[in-house]
Amino acid sequence: MMKLIRDPRQMHLFSAKARRAGRTIGLVPTMGYLHEGHLSLAHRARRDMDITVMSIFVNPAQFGPKEDLKKYPRDLKHDMKLAKDAGVDAIFYPSTEAMYPDGYKTYVGVRELSDILCGRSRPGHFTGVTTVVVKLFNIVECDVVYFGQKDAQQALIIKKMAADLNMPLKIKVMPIIREKDGLAMSSRNKYLSPGERRDAAVLHKALLLAKSLIRRGRKAPAYLVSRMKDLIRKKKSARIDYIDIVDARDLSPVKSIKGKVLILLAVWIGKTRLIDNIIING
Ligand code: PAF
Repeated sequence: MMKLIRDPRQMHLFSAKARRAGRTIGLVPTMGYLHEGHLSLAHRARRDMDITVMSIFVNPAQFGPKEDLKKYPRDLKHDMKLAKDAGVDAIFYPSTEAMYPDGYKTYVGVRELSDILCGRSRPGHFTGVTTVVVKLFNIVECDVVYFGQKDAQQALIIKKMAADLNMPLKIKVMPIIREKDGLAMSSRNKYLSPGERRDAAVLHKALLLAKSLIRRGRKAPAYLVSRMKDLIRKKKSARIDYIDIVDARDLSPVKSIKGKVLILLAVWIGKTRLIDNIIING
């Protein structure tokens, strides 16, 4: 029977009991409205670990004042069914008051990495993410935690935080799961109108264009970015937030395509901001 646990203390007791029995715990942190991307993480956790915990918490600390916190899609009943089918043992579904009680004061941030790329257009976002993630790690006391590569910057920042703060856990980053036309799965895809949904496939097409240009020997990041921009601008509903090519290890700028590079982009499709990325071994 899958458990639904709301109280952080109960969650902690559940984990403590499992750990006393010598069982390993995998955590899949989510904000709910589950899709195949989340479920691929749950399947992996189930394969690797004795116990799989999935957290579902729409974390107010990572939304800016003008962002979509209120309208972020939620469907606990459906999520519970999907999680159960994926073999999740417990869902941790805390209230905002339980996570951020009155007088809450502590935030954990990773310098520099949190201020670039997505951090530039979403100030404070990554501090909200790292803060909630540390809380989840402490509450669930997991051995391994699973994140998706779609949020490449998030995964890198969390890895850096875990290493810098000597956190006793492993972080696994799993591949992006895509729709048939290449659109990366995201709970926010739900916001797209049918026309926007068609246009949204251009994010992945732009990444594939860069990949094929690199394979044909084009190595200048500025040239690749300009070709990607030209392609995306053909879609009426698209407005580019940023496209960047960085070192996949530490998000530092690259002068040429050498070693493992990460091509990332954030594009507004109508009123929905979508992100995607690809790693290329240059
Ligand atoms: O990737 C997400 O869904 C969120 O940023 C996370 C990691 C669950 C923290 O709220």
